[in-house]
Amino acid sequence: MAQPTYSCLFAAIAALSLIACGQSEPAAPPAAGDASVPSTSLAADQAPAPTAEPASVPAATDGCSTTVGANDIMQYDTAQIVIPASCTEFTVHLTHTGQLPVGAMGHNLVITKTADMEAVNRDGAGAGLDGGYLKADDPRVIAHTGMIGGGERTSVTFPVSTVSDGAGYSFFCSYPGHIALMKGTVIVQ
Ligand code: CO
Repeated sequence: MAQPTYSCLFAAIAALSLIACGQSEPAAPPAAGDASVPSTSLAADQAPAPTAEPASVPAATDGCSTTVGANDIMQYDTAQIVIPASCTEFTVHLTHTGQLPVGAMGHNLVITKTADMEAVNRDGAGAGLDGGYLKADDPRVIAHTGMIGGGERTSVTFPVSTVSDGAGYSFFCSYPGHIALMKGTVIVQ
């Protein structure tokens, strides 16, 4: 006739164990200090709920990095890269969302002063695909990614101070002919 009592005990222990598991790592000996802990864990569980906001960050810039897409019809998916002035360094991820190989529809992302853009592009043509269509060690190039084909992804990180003096900066693709469509401005704000 002791069975119902044991059942109750087991149920109670099981419940305590569940509560214990529900909180944090210390799944140590149950029954010890259970009474006080669950209430704080409940409070902690409820606090994060209102924090479901940060999803509304602009798609273009996520903290100190951004992702620029490029496709099979010679286009970036944005004409502007906005860099928060609060960032020390900034990373641009370039994603080729197309399927064509690098030799047919290669894309990179090169950052220069807007005033240098056309000349850097012209001077890079002779470097060929192996040279990423950029003249080696061109001092006018502030930052650039590698040249990629469809399905590939690359990135580049640079100090924000290199583009924050208000001189006017742009990004473009140095694959021959692509600058006609593939270019945009770089803004620090
Ligand atoms: Co391109």
